[in-house]
Amino acid sequence: MKITIFSLKGGVGKTMIAINLALNLNYELDTNEVFIPLEEIIKGIEIKKILPEGKFDTGKNQTIFDLGGYADKRIEEIISISDFCIVPVVNESELSVKVSLNSLQICNAINKNTIIVLNKFNVREDEQFLHFLKENFKNEIFPIKFSKGFQSDSNILELAEKNKFFNYLYKEPATQFKKLLNHLTGDGK
Ligand SMILES: Nc1ncnc2c1ncn2[C@@H]1O[C@H](COP(=O)(O)OP(=O)(O)O)[C@@H](O)[C@H]1O
Ligand SMILES: [Mg+2]
Repeated sequence: MKITIFSLKGGVGKTMIAINLALNLNYELDTNEVFIPLEEIIKGIEIKKILPEGKFDTGKNQTIFDLGGYADKRIEEIISISDFCIVPVVNESELSVKVSLNSLQICNAINKNTIIVLNKFNVREDEQFLHFLKENFKNEIFPIKFSKGFQSDSNILELAEKNKFFNYLYKEPATQFKKLLNHLTGDGK
């Protein structure tokens, strides 16, 4: 399976989702984000950086593509051949939402298995926004709350199992992430 996480917008959680998926599925992570030394921070997954003029290996399965910025021809191709395309959306500024919804439109036009992750979700503040997304888009929506568990170099599911206190802290975000994972792998259907 190939899974792409795409957004024109930075800071929405593409890399966070990509890392957690790669760790849990034991997939390789290919990214066009070349300025962050991910491979030094994240242990346990193979990380490949794709330079602006570089080529993506489109033939390979079991890969997570973490793709940001302008959707050039290479990126469009990856999105279109992926089994799923995930677009993280964060209800921050109006501009941020607009750019995220643009990203969603790009993916919807070329991949019918496009999924929204409503990231950094806050039940109270984002309820109306979730309603808006449900009303206006046919995509499956997976809310993932703001949690420190996503700010470490660990797998959120392992983190939540580490001890009683961590289980208390991270049970909810881990459950939300597991729902996304189950949807992608077809488990629990
Ligand atoms: N659900 C979340 N809760 C808390 N922090 C998050 C969450 N998702 C992402 N972050 C943090 O937000 C920042 C941006 O996330 P990142 O995955 O790097 O975004 P992108 O790859 O889209 O630029 C990082 O510091 C990351 O740890
Ligand atoms: Mg990133």
